[in-house]
Amino acid sequence: MSKLWGGRFTKKTDQLVEEYTASILFDKELAEEDIQGSLAHVTMLGTCGIVPLEDVDKIKNGLLKVQSKIRQGEIEFTVGDEDIHMNIEKALIEEVGPVGGKLHTGRSRNDQVATDMHLYLRKRVVEFVGLLNKLQEALLGQASQNLDTIVPGYTHLQRAQPILFAHHLMAYVSMFQRDIERLQDSYKRINVLPLGAGALAGTTFPIDRHFVAQQLGFDGVYENSLDAVSDRDFIIEFLSNASMIMMHLSRLSEEMILWSSTEFRFVELDDAFCTGSSIMPQKKNPDVPELVRGKTGRVYGNLFGLLTVLKSLPLAYNKDMQEDKEGMFDTVRTLQGALQLYAPMVSTMKVNKDRMRQAVNQDFSNATDIADYLVNKGLPFRQAHEVIGKTVLYCIQNGKFLLDLKIEEYHQFSELFESDIYAVLQPEQVVNARNVYGGTATGQVSAAISRAEAVKLQTDEWFEQFYNKSK
Ligand code: ARG
Repeated sequence: MSKLWGGRFTKKTDQLVEEYTASILFDKELAEEDIQGSLAHVTMLGTCGIVPLEDVDKIKNGLLKVQSKIRQGEIEFTVGDEDIHMNIEKALIEEVGPVGGKLHTGRSRNDQVATDMHLYLRKRVVEFVGLLNKLQEALLGQASQNLDTIVPGYTHLQRAQPILFAHHLMAYVSMFQRDIERLQDSYKRINVLPLGAGALAGTTFPIDRHFVAQQLGFDGVYENSLDAVSDRDFIIEFLSNASMIMMHLSRLSEEMILWSSTEFRFVELDDAFCTGSSIMPQKKNPDVPELVRGKTGRVYGNLFGLLTVLKSLPLAYNKDMQEDKEGMFDTVRTLQGALQLYAPMVSTMKVNKDRMRQAVNQDFSNATDIADYLVNKGLPFRQAHEVIGKTVLYCIQNGKFLLDLKIEEYHQFSELFESDIYAVLQPEQVVNARNVYGGTATGQVSAAISRAEAVKLQTDEWFEQFYNKSK
């Protein structure tokens, strides 16, 4: 069979042009969605009296046969048939004869491909909410186990103030919560039906777009037919959300890599998530977080790629838009890989509490607290800051830490110091003194864990509900 659109042509397509313009090698990933959309479309053609019901039945049965053949790997897609839409239509016509040619009534590949992408992405968005929720669960598990683990908190990667390790992990739970909410919010813009827009202007057939939308579980239809076929905002929005998730994962990766270095030794990643060196027998490399950090680059690249493709494109469809797919599939795969590995890697990570404690005991991260101590004794904060700065300098010059100083040594800097200073400087005290909502005090962090667990249950419910809806 020649090209389905071959009527107005007198020559065969140049072989290289055929290969250059074909998208089947990658858009075959949309086969399920393409058939799903066609089944709804042809059902509507029947109910609206556009195609006789017996033909509709033949087409539907044919589509289901094509679907099962594709699933069995029995259909060989060809570049000559350009893309997934043409390949499936051709297979349908081979299956049921010329009546299969009625399927494309009142439809264009422009609204068809957009519909496929909407169907595809809404499933992925729900799956990603589920995967993020699993990662939050792993972080929450580690946080609950580390409510008594004190670790230096950093600014400028310099030790700043001691915090609970649980508090540090809960920061990521908050970050991934925003990612979840962004994905959930994007669902409403993805869940809109373009089909019925035709090539760009609508169709002369008396179709019922709302009927198709209802069948496919879309909440509504595109308002404007030109917009329906030229909109790729929903893909850009997904790529942007994915970029943000990868950025968060990459920050966590950086910390995992640092923490598992000999210099820190705060955590040890499970052997199952590390690899060795071909030459240095002692090595255990944190490849997973390194690769997640590295792959963040390609996810950003896919976002910028599509933003650039869309820039300056005149309405409505242009072939340029076929370039929306590879980056999207690549981002989906990259993000799936990262999230699937991260949850078990976090939950199997060993936390070296002693080593963290040792780090806290050997730093000046309790300095703010003695400044605050002097403030409570009536000294203005700026003066207290100066006094403690001098005290710290004295410690550094004499190879001591704040807890090592005798009260007489303290008195060189201020007469306000009394023996209760030693209690103030204890790491537990320093941590628990920050008893503000969202702060690192044990009671606050434990309340934050409870709140996050409740939110997690809501996400579970959302997932249950939308997982079936998105199929
Ligand atoms: N393979 C095409 C794409 O992905 C499908 C739409 C083709 N439309 C057209 N007018 N040639 O964009």
